[in-house]
Amino acid sequence: MQYRHSFHAGNFADVHKHIAVLALIAALQKKPKGFLFLDTHGGEGLYDLAGHDARHSAESSAGIAQLESRLAQSASPCHPAIRGYLDRIESLRRAHGGSPHLYPGSPLLAASALRDVDSLIAVESQAAISRALQRALDAAPATAASTRVIHGDGYQQLKALLPPASRRGLIVIDPPYESSDEEQRIATGLAAARLRFSTGVYALWYPIKKRHDTDLWLARITRGIDCPQLVIELCLRPPDNAAGLNGSGMLILNPPWQFDEDAGRWQPEVLALLGGTGGSAVRWLKS
Ligand SMILES: C[S@@+](CC[C@H](N)C(=O)[O-])C[C@H]1O[C@@H](n2cnc3c(N)ncnc32)[C@H](O)[C@@H]1O
Repeated sequence: MQYRHSFHAGNFADVHKHIAVLALIAALQKKPKGFLFLDTHGGEGLYDLAGHDARHSAESSAGIAQLESRLAQSASPCHPAIRGYLDRIESLRRAHGGSPHLYPGSPLLAASALRDVDSLIAVESQAAISRALQRALDAAPATAASTRVIHGDGYQQLKALLPPASRRGLIVIDPPYESSDEEQRIATGLAAARLRFSTGVYALWYPIKKRHDTDLWLARITRGIDCPQLVIELCLRPPDNAAGLNGSGMLILNPPWQFDEDAGRWQPEVLALLGGTGGSAVRWLKS
C-alpha cells in the first residue's frame, strides 16, 4: 500500500511544518531577488478533511482543527507567522469553493506566498497524486513567475534541478519515511544537492518518536555536512514512545538570518494552542 498523505493532512506535524515553510519563504523574501521553491515530495496539494481518509484517522482534530478552535475562542492576537498561515488557508479555501474542511498542502501554501520573481517546482512520485496536485495548483491563485509539477522521484530531481538559475532556493524535503532505504536516499540526495548548490536553504522534515533514536538519526544525516544547521522541534507528547508520532522536527541547512529567533517565538505559542505537553526547541547543531 502506497503512502497517502490524505490520512495525515492537517495533523499537528502539518501545522508545524507548514508554519515553518511559510516563515522560511517570508525570510527569503526579505531580499528582492527571486528564488526557486522546490518541494521534492509534493503530495496532493489539497485535502478534504471531511473525506474518508482524514475522517478515518481523525488526525486533524489535534492539529488544524484544534488550532482554529482555540484561536476562535481567544481574544488575544497570535504571532504573525501563525496568523499568516491561517489567513492563507482561509483564502485558499475561498478560492476552492469555500468549504471549511479543505486543507492545503505545502505546494499550495507556498504557491500562495510566492512573488512574481519566485518560481515553484513540486515533485510527486505517484502518478494519480501528481495529477491531483497539478489540478489543485491550476485552480489556485498563484503569483509565482512559474509553477510546475513533475511526476517523478524527488531525490533524482534534486540532481536534475539544482542549482536554480536564480542561484537562490528553498528546498523542502518531506518524505513519508515508510521505506527502509529512506535514510540512505535522504543522505545521498542531500549530499548530491549540496554539491551542486551549497548555498541553498534546505528544510528536511522528520518524525520524532523516541528522543534518543531521533538524535542518533540526526547525527547520521548531518555527518559530513559542513554548513550552518538548525533544528526546530515541536512535541505534542513527550518523545518517549517509539510507536507513535510524538513530535515534528525540521532540520534546516543554511537557515535565513533570524529565522531561529522567530521560531523561538512562534513554536511555543503553537504548542500551547495545540495543548501539547512535550515541549518545543530551537537548537543549532552547527552555527
Ligand atoms: C508527507 S507527503 C508530502 C506532503 C506535502 N509535502 C505537504 O506538506 O503537503 C509525501 C509525499 O511524497 C510522495 N513520495 C514518496 N516518495 C517519493 C519520492 N521518492 N519522490 C517524490 N515523491 C515521493 C508520496 O507519494 C506522498 O504524496
